[in-house]
Amino acid sequence: MRAPQVEPDPTLPARVRIHEVGVRDGLQNESAIVPVEVKAEFVRRLAASGLETIEVTSFVNPQWVPQLADAADLLAALGAEGLGRHRPVLVPNERGLDRALEAGVNAIAIFGSATETFARKNLNRSVAESIAMFAPVVARAREAGLWVRAYVSMCFGDPWEGEVPIGQVADACASLMALGADELSLGDTIGVATPGHVVALLDALEVRGIAREAVAVHFHDTYGQALSNTMTALRQGVAIVDASAGGLGGCPYAKSATGNLATEDLVWALHGAGVETGVDLESLVATSAWMAEQLGRPSPSRVVRALTGSS
Ligand code: HMG
Ligand code: MG
Repeated sequence: MRAPQVEPDPTLPARVRIHEVGVRDGLQNESAIVPVEVKAEFVRRLAASGLETIEVTSFVNPQWVPQLADAADLLAALGAEGLGRHRPVLVPNERGLDRALEAGVNAIAIFGSATETFARKNLNRSVAESIAMFAPVVARAREAGLWVRAYVSMCFGDPWEGEVPIGQVADACASLMALGADELSLGDTIGVATPGHVVALLDALEVRGIAREAVAVHFHDTYGQALSNTMTALRQGVAIVDASAGGLGGCPYAKSATGNLATEDLVWALHGAGVETGVDLESLVATSAWMAEQLGRPSPSRVVRALTGSS
């Protein structure tokens, strides 16, 4: 299979940790229920292709996201492969944490919002109420020795509110990190960010004491900007990137959200620049092609389409 010509780029980090969200963010948006065994096979194949961190599922209200109602069954099907520090699951509240602990998880992600409208639509609460909901989740998770990630959605724009002031985003990020999270993921839920905006937000976070080392970036690709924004963040010192195998994804509670940055597109760019990811691109492309068959439509990833001759 074709690979990019390697020309090292000294402005990028030597190694990037990919936080693979295809199984959670990718599948949560699918209306046809994907069988639990297919999800388990997806996780196993992603792990076999060298992806270290794989977000497995969500312990949310199953009525809100029916696709992930099988969270406990999926973890049971995966056994040890679904557990550990590098297999986080989304948890919004104490009920979700109880279910996650019962399933044996070792890492969770809470998910807040920078805007009031999305907090209401996604969590049925105001921003302040959702932080109050997360506080005991993080406290109990830390007590149980779990690793905790905090997502913040609508960091670069909101489909209902439009522009989102950077100070408001930084405040939401600081409030969630103050709960005791280990890592912050900046969500461009609707894919509207541009590089200057990325730099400005990272700078605003630094002022609030949130260093680049604790920050991950999570770009959806609605406007085709995800890879360019990611490379900008990497040149600013970020070294954790969320991506979705095959470019699957979206958010059922955010109109105009499409798939995440495709993991293959990211890996192509990073390997070409001599950046280590631990991923075997050929095996990952085969996995995304397999998953596209399961879903019955071609992968939106340009690299998957180019390498499988389907474009
Ligand atoms: P609510 O309706 O306000 O919850 O939902 P409640 O506390 O009032 O409880 C109502 C009922 O739900 C109760 O049952 C609870 O037990 C049950 P009843 O007593 O009526 O029989 N319930 C639960 N059951 C199972 N597991 C739970 C749970 N919680 C309550 N965890 C809630 C509030 C937060 C639960 C709801 O709004 C919810 O589940 N939201 C999740 C929405 C979601 O998953 N969105 C997608 C993920 S976020 C995303 O994709 C963005 C991201 O990718 C970053 C980016 O791109 O920006 C991360
Ligand atoms: Mg997302």
